[in-house]
Amino acid sequence: MECLGIESTAHTIGVGITNGDKIIHHNTMYKAKNEGIVPRKVADHHAEMFPKLLKQTLDEYDTNMHNIDCIAFSQGPGIGQCLQIGSAMARHLAIKYKKPLIGVNHCVAHLDIGIKNTGLKDPLFIYASGGNTQLIVKEKNQYLVLGETLDIGMGNLFDTFGRAAGLEFAHGGVLEKISQKGKYIGLPYTVKGMNIIFGGMLTSSIKKLKKHSLEDVTYSLMHNAFAMTIEATERALCLKNKKEIIVCGGVAQNDMFKQMLTKMADEHNVKFGSPLNEFNRDNAGMIAYTGWLMKKNNKTIKLENSKPRPNWRIDKN
Ligand code: ATP
Ligand code: FE2
Repeated sequence: MECLGIESTAHTIGVGITNGDKIIHHNTMYKAKNEGIVPRKVADHHAEMFPKLLKQTLDEYDTNMHNIDCIAFSQGPGIGQCLQIGSAMARHLAIKYKKPLIGVNHCVAHLDIGIKNTGLKDPLFIYASGGNTQLIVKEKNQYLVLGETLDIGMGNLFDTFGRAAGLEFAHGGVLEKISQKGKYIGLPYTVKGMNIIFGGMLTSSIKKLKKHSLEDVTYSLMHNAFAMTIEATERALCLKNKKEIIVCGGVAQNDMFKQMLTKMADEHNVKFGSPLNEFNRDNAGMIAYTGWLMKKNNKTIKLENSKPRPNWRIDKN
C-alpha cells in the first residue's frame, strides 16, 4: 500500500510517498527576506512549486498516480492560506484519480516519524518547532499535552530575535552557527511547573544587543530556551515515569539542544533519540508516513470534511 502526502502548513511545500518503509520526498521552503510570513506570498510560492515537486517525487519513487492508494495532506495546524493550497491539491488529486483522502495533524506526523526513525516505543515527546513547543505523551491512543509554551513557539522566538537583530535570513539554523562563538550572559528564565514562557526573554535579549555582542546574546538566548524546556521536561519525565525521550520538530535540528538533552537523559538513565534532520524540519515524508498509518486504520475523511483546520491542537480530535 502506497500513500502520497502533501505538506503546506507554513513556509514549506512538499510531496512525499511511502509504503511504510521506504520514504521518498521533495520539499521546498519559501525564504522570506527580513520579514515574517506574508501568507499570500507563501501561498503563491506553494501553488507554483507543487506540480514540480509532485513530478519529482513520483519519478524518484518510480511510480505514477494510478499506483498510489491514498492521498494524505496536512490539514492543520498552520497558516490558513498555506493550508488551503495543500488541501486543494489533495482534493484535486483525490477526485481526479478516485483515491481516498486522509487529513493528517502536522504535529502527530512530527511525533510518528520520531518513533519510526528512533525505534523508541513509549517516549515522552518534546515537540519543538516554529509555532509549537510542547511536552506530549500518548495514552490510550490519545495525545496528552503535559506542558507547553504559554506564549510563542521556540522557533518563533529565535526567528523574531534574528529579525530584530537585522539578520537577512532570520532562522534558527543561522542563529545556531552564530551562537557557537558566544558565551553566557544573564537573561530572564521563566518556567511555571511544566509550562514555559519565552516573551520576557525575547524582549530582554533584543535590549541586550545594545551592550553585548550578537554572538553572546544568541548563545544565551538559545541556552536559556533549551534549559527552560529541559527543566519542564524533567518534571514531566518524573510525573509519567517515562524511560524514553524523543525530541522532534524544526528546533530539534539544533546540536546544542540535543547535547543538553543527552546529558539530562543520561542523568535520569533514560533513552534519548531524535529523527534525522531531514525529518525534523517540515517535510512531506512524515505526512505521507502518518497518512500511511492512518489508512491502515481506515481513518479516511469525506471530501466535505477536508477543509483546513488552522488551530487543530494535537489533543483535540
Ligand atoms: P510547526 O507547524 O511544526 O510549528 P514550523 O512551520 O515551525 O512547523 P518546522 O520546520 O517544524 O516548521 O520548524 C521550523 C523552526 O525551526 C523555525 O522557527 C526555525 O528557526 C527553527 N530551526 C530550524 N533549525 C534550527 C536550529 N538549528 N536551531 C534552532 N532552531 C532551528
Ligand atoms: Fe513542523
